[in-house]
Amino acid sequence: MRVGILTGGGDCPGLNAVIRAIVRRGVPEYGYEFLGFRDGWRGPLEAITRPLDIPAVRGLLPRGGTILGSSRTNPFAIENGVGRIKKNLQDLGVNALVAIGGEDTLGVASELHDAGVRVVGVPKTIDNDLSGTDYTFGFDTAVNIAVEAIDRLHTTAESHHRTLIVEVMGRHAGWIALHAGMAGGANAILIPEVRFDIDQVCEWVQSRFRLEYAPIVVVSEGAMPKDGEEVLLTGEKDAFGHVRLGGVGEWLGREIEARTGKEARTTVLGHVQRGGTPTARDRWLATRFGLHAIDAVAAGQWGQMTALRGADIVTVPLHEATQQLKLVDPALYAEAAVFFG
Ligand code: F6P
Repeated sequence: MRVGILTGGGDCPGLNAVIRAIVRRGVPEYGYEFLGFRDGWRGPLEAITRPLDIPAVRGLLPRGGTILGSSRTNPFAIENGVGRIKKNLQDLGVNALVAIGGEDTLGVASELHDAGVRVVGVPKTIDNDLSGTDYTFGFDTAVNIAVEAIDRLHTTAESHHRTLIVEVMGRHAGWIALHAGMAGGANAILIPEVRFDIDQVCEWVQSRFRLEYAPIVVVSEGAMPKDGEEVLLTGEKDAFGHVRLGGVGEWLGREIEARTGKEARTTVLGHVQRGGTPTARDRWLATRFGLHAIDAVAAGQWGQMTALRGADIVTVPLHEATQQLKLVDPALYAEAAVFFG
């Protein structure tokens, strides 16, 4: 059996650890051969491959990014995309595919499964917004990077009596902001799921100054004011129809400064949250997902995705996991709000 592997969508730390685990188990345990597809769905669409054997995956565990490359290619937005993928898989002698990705990559995997392709999914994303799994790998690393930044910003904010705003990624889900903000002791956390009141945010900021501390506001890139919309970096959309978010931190800085009369500055963490080596937890999760993904292939569990449930790795149907985003529960946000102001 020859198994193809691809990584699609925004990269995140831990992708290489999954690839390594799949190959390290798949070759000796099942006698499989592996073929890497380059740049997400572009690989099978255009038959761009690279060999994947045990020597090729040595040393990958701590390495960020993905040795296979990634892209946001959507075969369903390309004429005869599905037909081309099926033909290329057949010509290359690939009998099964492991797709490692987020809602878009796995959404494509789910539809390809419906079209007769033998595919198993592995959930990744720093955003942690995939249903069906408690956590995705990449998230823990992003949160830890954000917390380190917040810790550092506290001390400089206090020296200069400024408000510092930290804009984090997460798209339409506030998981990174919530976890990093709570762990970093933010004075306000603004997430896409709960519209914020700018007057209330300014009150929290002022109360922090009264205590002779400097406020830190963590804002998720998709957060929106009560009477406004998402702030966009550009008007462009990607192949899956996603807008490019970014800029709400700068907007907040200007508003807070104008309303409080005290200086406010913004730090946008951006792609730093996706780069570099995975945390120990993400290495552990990615490795376990890889091991269970190749077991799912061996068991013929097509159309399924590995998922973390408590301490167990289980499989769930791809179409369930990709139907709707996993958003922050208001009760969790209420816990964080105890520390605002
Ligand atoms: O989905 C991961 C993510 O990093 C989001 O948090 C962010 O909105 C988006 O990808 C950024 O995408 P790109 O790297 O294409 O700018």
